[in-house]
Amino acid sequence: MIERAPLTARRVGPLKGRVRVPGDKSISHRALILGALTVGKCSISGLLEGQDVLNTAKSVLALGATVERRGEGEWVIHGVGVGGFAEPSRSLDFGNSGTGCRLMLGAVAGCPITAIFDGDASLRRRPMQRVLEPLQRMGARTQGAAEGRLPVTLTGAGDAIPIVFEPPVPSAQLKSAVLLAGLSAPGQTIIVEREATRDHTEKMLAHFGADVHVEPEGNRGSRVTLVGQPELVPAPIVVPADPSSAAFPLVGALITSGSDIVLDGVMMNPLRGGLFTTLGEMGASIERLETRNEGGEEVADLRVRGGALRGVEVPAERAPAMIDEYPILAVAASFAEGTTVMRGLKELRVKESDRLAGTADMLRVNGVTVEIDGDDLIVAGKGLALGGGLVATHMDHRLAMSALVMGLASEQPVQIDDGSFIATSFPDFVALMRGLGADVA
Ligand code: S3P
Repeated sequence: MIERAPLTARRVGPLKGRVRVPGDKSISHRALILGALTVGKCSISGLLEGQDVLNTAKSVLALGATVERRGEGEWVIHGVGVGGFAEPSRSLDFGNSGTGCRLMLGAVAGCPITAIFDGDASLRRRPMQRVLEPLQRMGARTQGAAEGRLPVTLTGAGDAIPIVFEPPVPSAQLKSAVLLAGLSAPGQTIIVEREATRDHTEKMLAHFGADVHVEPEGNRGSRVTLVGQPELVPAPIVVPADPSSAAFPLVGALITSGSDIVLDGVMMNPLRGGLFTTLGEMGASIERLETRNEGGEEVADLRVRGGALRGVEVPAERAPAMIDEYPILAVAASFAEGTTVMRGLKELRVKESDRLAGTADMLRVNGVTVEIDGDDLIVAGKGLALGGGLVATHMDHRLAMSALVMGLASEQPVQIDDGSFIATSFPDFVALMRGLGADVA
């Protein structure tokens, strides 16, 4: 049980300095799960040591792989091979993490074992049927999952059935779960996405020697074909800095005038880059100082300077590339001049909290005019926010961090009811922000 931790952010002045945010959460989960499915020893550096990823590490251990922490972010996994997970003696607790849980449901679905999947109150509210349905088609059996929610008991199929799957919603977790189950299928598992989502699973599978091909599908989609039953060969993983975490100090700097910061080694994967595109359109000063390749991803040092922003229209088709960034974009939009319309945010309702409602409430209690129209969020930017609000964070780390960033530039301090969930994705957030000059306590 995590203890509640109210926090307050106050305006003090510009942010200055150079920092590196922690490793990418999506890649960290995949490194542990896929590393555990290789045959042999797989080293990981830069692993995010947030609660979500630590829960995934515990579940990998419970499933029979050996997991060793050798130093900060330095981990070694001794994998058991595709289909080689052993039946866990206790239920697997994924805490707050949809990614850990859904990816592991897929990985276990390809093993002839039974495991119980569970999580905290937030994860127990999130939809699992979208993942269980294709896994059942692949031969897995499930029990529990009342109304498609956790806890669920899943019995995997030794040889999964290869399927062609068209995800009903754009979701990398869904795609990845089916690919992970497809690893033990004799034949081709094919995913046809109408809208391409983050491709970290596909890239890491190729890195470990699997036969996996990605082709464009239509205007914005992708078709992934995986040949099942490969032997995954361990290869070192370097985890780049998480763009979804970088978003918080980045927007903090943009909205506090006179700020000038550098964010080191931020992953620039285009399927994660919607926020950078949008902030660019809003007139933000974000300069790529040096671009290089780290662990198979393009990364860049980003110099960010405070300055005026203008409201923009964010098209629905951009949502998959910035699905986790809407709360912090809404904060930037509050400090912009003019209206920002963010379209097509239905999926935000089923994140760690109902993030569409939570984001609107966060703005409203701090004196910003905001409206939800269907699945769209409309923020009337006036170049400032009054602040003074107490923000309900609903066990949602991204609402908590967004609200604190808002407090750095609003007239009055912004308070949050609970900052404890920040530790799920960005354990050093408060210390890093203070290091840049922010007043968060
Ligand atoms: C993730 C996919 C996204 C995102 C989540 C991480 C992943 O979820 O919101 O934070 O690592 O695959 P969905 O697949 O539900 O969109």
